[in-house]
Amino acid sequence: MSNVRSVHVELGDRSYDVLVGSGVRSELAAMLPKSARRAAIITQTGIPLAVDPGIPHEVFVIGQGEEHKSLATIETLCRGFANMGLTRNDVIIGLGGGMVTDIAGFAAASWHRGMAVVHVSTTLVGMVDAAIGGKTGVNLPEGKNLVGAYWQPSGVLCDLDALATLSPREMRCGMGEMAKYHFLAGDDLLSLELVDRIARCAQIKADIVGVDEREGGRRALLNYGHTLAHALEIVGDFSLAHGEAVAIGLIYAAHLGYELGRISRARVQQHYDVVGGLYELNTSLPEFDHQMLLGLMGRDKKALDGLTFVLDGDNGVEVVAGVPDDAVLNALRSMAEA
Ligand code: GLY
Repeated sequence: MSNVRSVHVELGDRSYDVLVGSGVRSELAAMLPKSARRAAIITQTGIPLAVDPGIPHEVFVIGQGEEHKSLATIETLCRGFANMGLTRNDVIIGLGGGMVTDIAGFAAASWHRGMAVVHVSTTLVGMVDAAIGGKTGVNLPEGKNLVGAYWQPSGVLCDLDALATLSPREMRCGMGEMAKYHFLAGDDLLSLELVDRIARCAQIKADIVGVDEREGGRRALLNYGHTLAHALEIVGDFSLAHGEAVAIGLIYAAHLGYELGRISRARVQQHYDVVGGLYELNTSLPEFDHQMLLGLMGRDKKALDGLTFVLDGDNGVEVVAGVPDDAVLNALRSMAEA
């Protein structure tokens, strides 16, 4: 195998590597803990890669769609683990996109109070974000990812062979997250070849997770563009995919930054140039009721001190708490009229 990049996530005795490249799934057996005698592979139908863990294993296929990202799915999986006699010395493998790795990670955090998990990420969003950093969890009817745990994988494989079959929409979703990294690091990611681009995003995330695993501070920056994005996903009943919503959320964050006097008009335009121009993503605010969006943004998990956003400014991107309702609504209006 050539052209493989390795990114290290430094977390002391829980450190691990992320391998990025075509065919890296062949490294799976080598990445499993030596204690593992059996593996539970959690996946979905239609995942374009098959993996060989090199040890006896059972495959658990979970449903498609956010409604299956639930505690009921975790219960079904854990009952399956009980039936196969999975022990805490064994290993869970998450094979799929962000939904699969979030569920596999949470099942691993919960089963026997915690066991090893290795992720084989098959989507661009998963490779640059979801599979790395140990955020795991499921949804409740009341909101996305409300129940979960920080549970780091023992390793992550980002096999680029999986990307060949991704739909244009799934690729766009990954591009939405990549556009976010563009503003976090100021890099021209698009000038890099794909393997380096994905590895660079993974490295930016690894560096942030390495200093703030549990989002006490810097990790919140990874939510740039996400406050409106989460509200748009909910109000639209998930008709907008996450990365598409993040692209719109980045533009909104720029409008709000301008409304609060944090950035110039030219910097707002740069957001349009990057998100809409370079990354060719939709930047228009869908026609949802603004009061409803305001209410949903107030329920965001970051909102510890009033309405809280990650916003650009003179010091770069930072968390801003206590944003007034009027500013939020004015920014929605100016984006809708742009
Ligand atoms: N997706 C944001 C994070 O992992 O912190």
